[in-house]
Amino acid sequence: MVPPIPMSSKDRRKRVVAKPRIFSGIQPTGGFHIGNWLGAVRNWVALGNAAKESGKDAFFCVVDAHAITVPYEPKDLRVRIEELALDLVACGIDPREHTLFVQSDVPEHMELAWYLAAATPMGDLGRMTQFKDKSDGKDFVSTALFTYPILMSADILLYKATEVPVGDDQLQHLELARETSRRFNHRFGGIFPEPQPLLTKATRIMGLDGDGKMSKSKGNTIPLFDEPKAFWKKLQGAFTDPNRKGREDPGNPEICNIYTMHKELSTAEEQETVVKNCTTAGWGCYDCKMLLHANFEKEVAPLREKRKSLNVIEVREALHENSKKAREIAQETIREVRESMGLGCGLPR
Ligand code: AMP
Ligand code: TRP
Repeated sequence: MVPPIPMSSKDRRKRVVAKPRIFSGIQPTGGFHIGNWLGAVRNWVALGNAAKESGKDAFFCVVDAHAITVPYEPKDLRVRIEELALDLVACGIDPREHTLFVQSDVPEHMELAWYLAAATPMGDLGRMTQFKDKSDGKDFVSTALFTYPILMSADILLYKATEVPVGDDQLQHLELARETSRRFNHRFGGIFPEPQPLLTKATRIMGLDGDGKMSKSKGNTIPLFDEPKAFWKKLQGAFTDPNRKGREDPGNPEICNIYTMHKELSTAEEQETVVKNCTTAGWGCYDCKMLLHANFEKEVAPLREKRKSLNVIEVREALHENSKKAREIAQETIREVRESMGLGCGLPR
């Protein structure tokens, strides 16, 4: 086989024009919550449906290889993967329409992560705030937790994704993926596009305790599929504007987590009513939460019912089929990457 002709530096700087493609991922760490839904997954469904109309592909991935970067129980992981897949299908990610699959079923993610690691400076990883948060004060910090953002870049670049719907906590990782794409293209030739983040209006849902973002690891969440009573109990106790100490104190909706959620779930008219009644103390936070809960119920009740009716075996088979489809694209990208990096004996694997 004739070795490939090296690219000129002019070719390498050429901007890559890729087919528009959506990619996003979520970790199977248990307890799919309203922050995941409002910040990301509800948008996945909307974008996925719009993509279908315009002939764009959408890839949604249960990122199990990311979930092993922190201590975990192997026997629980498989259950969590399955539970999360069911959650996503119930939310409207139809695995027959979109490529919903499990990350480690496509081993090329890990292979590309290694190749990209060769083009990623350690200093960039050291600046990642999520690494600092997750490693702070821990006895055991895995190397994989440190290199996690490289695997995330690999997830996205493997499919040459152009659009990545995420919550704002992932923006720093996404910026690294963009930088990695530029760096790789400059050094080895134009292969990857620069993926763009897509945010919702509720891009950061705060925890119920008001202490930072809502997150599974902090235990300050409302699971999306909680039954209405349990859901309401948690919502009722949720932190609001700290200046509203008493019923008669006016509040500022712009700094209230409850209002952030109204922006996604309530009509324009209802939002106006909320603003008026919050700023004039016409309503207490209880009234505002009641309306929010009713609007959650309108959307979530059918999803909860759908979740109960899903067949696990069918979903598992769909994930398996989809991983084969994802793998075809992944293998083609890996072939290009290996060629441009000068790897292998020169004959196809
Ligand atoms: P994770 O559960 O960390 O895998 O997150 C899955 C998706 O949900 C990512 O796109 C996150 O950015 C998003 N997400 C997680 N927590 C929140 C939150 N509190 N507010 C908004 N989006 C979130
Ligand atoms: N790091 C993301 C999170 O914790 C999950 C993730 C992994 C992801 N790979 C991705 C998100 C690729 C978007 C694209 O939420």
